[in-house]
Amino acid sequence: MPNILLVGNGAREHAMAEAIARSGYSPILFSFMKANNPGIASLSDICKLGSYSDLSGITDFALDNKIDFAVIGPEDPLNNGIVDALIQCGIPSVGPVKSLARLETSKSFTRNLVNKYHIPGNPKFKVFTTPDGLEAFLEQLDGIVLKPDGLTGGKGVLVQGDHFKSRDEALKLCRQILKESSSVIVEEKFDGEEFSLQCLCDGKTVVGTPLVQDHKRRFDGDQGPNTGGMGSYSLPDHLMPFLKASDVEEGLAITRQVAAALLKETGRPYKGVMYGGFIATKDGVKLLEYNARFGDPEAMNILPLLKTDFVDICRHIINGTLNTLKIEFDPKATVCKYVVPKGYGLPADHPDAASSRAKIEVGNVRKARLYYSSVDKKEDGLYLSSSRAIGIVGIADNLDEARIIAEEGVKAVKGPVAYREDIGTQALIQKRIDHMKKIRMS
Ligand code: GLY
Repeated sequence: MPNILLVGNGAREHAMAEAIARSGYSPILFSFMKANNPGIASLSDICKLGSYSDLSGITDFALDNKIDFAVIGPEDPLNNGIVDALIQCGIPSVGPVKSLARLETSKSFTRNLVNKYHIPGNPKFKVFTTPDGLEAFLEQLDGIVLKPDGLTGGKGVLVQGDHFKSRDEALKLCRQILKESSSVIVEEKFDGEEFSLQCLCDGKTVVGTPLVQDHKRRFDGDQGPNTGGMGSYSLPDHLMPFLKASDVEEGLAITRQVAAALLKETGRPYKGVMYGGFIATKDGVKLLEYNARFGDPEAMNILPLLKTDFVDICRHIINGTLNTLKIEFDPKATVCKYVVPKGYGLPADHPDAASSRAKIEVGNVRKARLYYSSVDKKEDGLYLSSSRAIGIVGIADNLDEARIIAEEGVKAVKGPVAYREDIGTQALIQKRIDHMKKIRMS
């Protein structure tokens, strides 16, 4: 019976906790969370609350409980060096050391690495630490994307057409970003369809998992502000209907080359999840960004489908033997819908903003799975806590059934909440297919 430490407190980690808890090895689960997630707590033998920057608090908890290995959910503790601190105590982790977590925490590191090792997928880009030369470079781009260099919770990227219109506005925004961040990455904007390819990596071997598409925008029809992700779907064939088989191969090939480049560059094996955010364009697959962890919500699409024991996967990642393990997923469709406070993503002075800390009731979600995210469990019940509250997942033989199961589950959450009805609908997916067809013909 292994003692496993899980660090993290979101719906992604609730899905990870569930994958650990159903292992045939009957693990004892210890959870370190910055806020109490009732779902993770119910699956854990012992929980500790604390800050992800309190590295000795986490290592003491691990040592006191004779942890065999840790699994790190979110990017913040990775960025703080939790894996390095645990290694110092003789405890291995599923999650990269701080220097390798730069794959996510420094967008300039990744762009430069991809260029240095002649890996395909980068856009035309430049990293600026001062405004010098910005204007001339902006002139060279037809569409512009601006990225502050650091962790932004998935919400820091500014895209021309969505967040600003003109080159002049881009220039002003760059100057603003440079006041708050050490550098800004200015990139060419791609037109295409995005997909998430979450890969498992032991430093040498990279294994792809079912493709997922997330929905960043707050409202139906891809309207409104960007969020951490309002929901996602995957299909029984583990592909996306707007992609060609070669697109998936390209994404996987890029990730394999990046894993090899990381090893060569740093001398250390990347152990954990390499989650590539890719976009299929008329010129093939391009790399938007990497995350050094499972996606949230995307983890909720793939982990419940795992047929292989998650503890075996973790052990093979740690031991560098992923090449000897067959990793299988159920051929099912999944639809995840995030239930959020009505005011989520809206300005603080919006009338719905007050809903963000209201009480909610969770009834019977029937055939759906429920993963808690930002909720506050008080003595008198469950409260929203300003961010995405509950991930509801439908799993079935086809997408429509999975969507209906998720919808039924969502309806069981009562209170001032909202969700995206269109995620997982044929109409929205057809829009993606038509968009991609048009792009490929142009
Ligand atoms: N789904 C977006 C993220 O996990 O960053």
